Amino acid sequence: MAEVRVGVIGVGGHGRGRHLIPLTRTPNARVVAVCDTDQATLNRVCQEFHVAGYTDFREMIERESLEAVSIATPSGLHYRIAVECLRRGVHALVDKPLGASLQEVVEVVRASVHANKVLMVGFWSRFSPALRYGLELVETGMLGEPYYAYGYLVRRRGIPGKPTFIDKELSGGRGVLLDIGCYMLDNILALTGFRKPVSASGAVYTKFGRDPEEIKFNWGTWDPGKFELEDFAAGFVKFENGMSLALETAWAANVSHREEVGRLRILGDKGGVEAEGHEALQGIGYYSRTKHFLFDSKPILPNADLPLEMTKAFIKSITEGVEPPVTGWQSVILHSIIDAIYESSSTGKEVRITLPGI
Ligand SMILES: NC(=O)c1ccc[n+]([C@@H]2O[C@H](COP(=O)([O-])OP(=O)(O)OC[C@H]3O[C@@H](n4cnc5c(N)ncnc54)[C@H](O)[C@@H]3O)[C@@H](O)[C@H]2O)c1
Repeated sequence: MAEVRVGVIGVGGHGRGRHLIPLTRTPNARVVAVCDTDQATLNRVCQEFHVAGYTDFREMIERESLEAVSIATPSGLHYRIAVECLRRGVHALVDKPLGASLQEVVEVVRASVHANKVLMVGFWSRFSPALRYGLELVETGMLGEPYYAYGYLVRRRGIPGKPTFIDKELSGGRGVLLDIGCYMLDNILALTGFRKPVSASGAVYTKFGRDPEEIKFNWGTWDPGKFELEDFAAGFVKFENGMSLALETAWAANVSHREEVGRLRILGDKGGVEAEGHEALQGIGYYSRTKHFLFDSKPILPNADLPLEMTKAFIKSITEGVEPPVTGWQSVILHSIIDAIYESSSTGKEVRITLPGI
């Protein structure tokens, strides 16, 4: 089978580590070029991987006759770059979040539909064996009907200092809810089948980022005078079938744990799951009953290279013409919730959610 000619756009920390490296190990993919607007980063990566380098992704697509791109630029740029790439007729793997707002996400999904090209969202967390185990429980009816979900992804002190995350244009003007809250929300939505949300309420706060005395660990530093994003968010979502969901996420909070902690719980009328980890779930348990006893069970999970599973799935969806496991439409649902939580926070009201057409 002919190899798919791929270029990686944005080869900073995540683009190099979780897009470029796994793509070089992905069957039927050939990384021929990379693009980064930072010349020093570009030179370093080109030398390391022996690939052509560009500072303009349009030129890279043309000159290298690319069939696919993998985009890991700062989040605020995903939408614009993804739309342009899709319109130029290349398949796109776009890191999370697909856009900074629902409107941006919808535009990317529409561009992929019009171009008839694969669009996959780079939630590498989806390939976690713990999540797959949870999905198996749900799909085989072991939970019964899920009626409540809870997601928590909180750092005690972890405001990411890089401009990528806190500069208004690069971050998309949104903070922790968009940056890491999206992971926990995506995990829950994936496990519960991307049900249709009907309303959401929420509140977002900036409690640490503007404090000049804020204690910083190894997440970088920033100018508190220019910090404009939320560092804590909480939301409550209701779904069409009656399921509800509560979410808490923070870049910084006065909690007991020192490291970033992710927790997820889904309650069904036949059983429940509780999982923990970070962005990606790492451990999971199933809690239910027999006729006379309550029981707990924990699977023995295999190791897995999640970014590699992600790039393999992307290339497979191109070569085999199948839908990718992480679709643009799923991000439409995800971002309809994220937008509604922001809106509810600013209006103080519960927000009705109507999913847009594509
Ligand atoms: N999935 C994850 O676990 C995870 C973890 C970290 C970051 N991310 C996501 O990955 C993205 C990048 O984060 P990062 O930590 O690698 O940031 P980074 O700052 O290390 O890298 C971003 C790179 O993009 C380059 N860039 C900026 N504008 C560009 C443009 N127009 N064209 C080409 N290159 C451009 C920058 O020069 C930089 O090298 C963000 O969207 C972030 O949310 C995901």
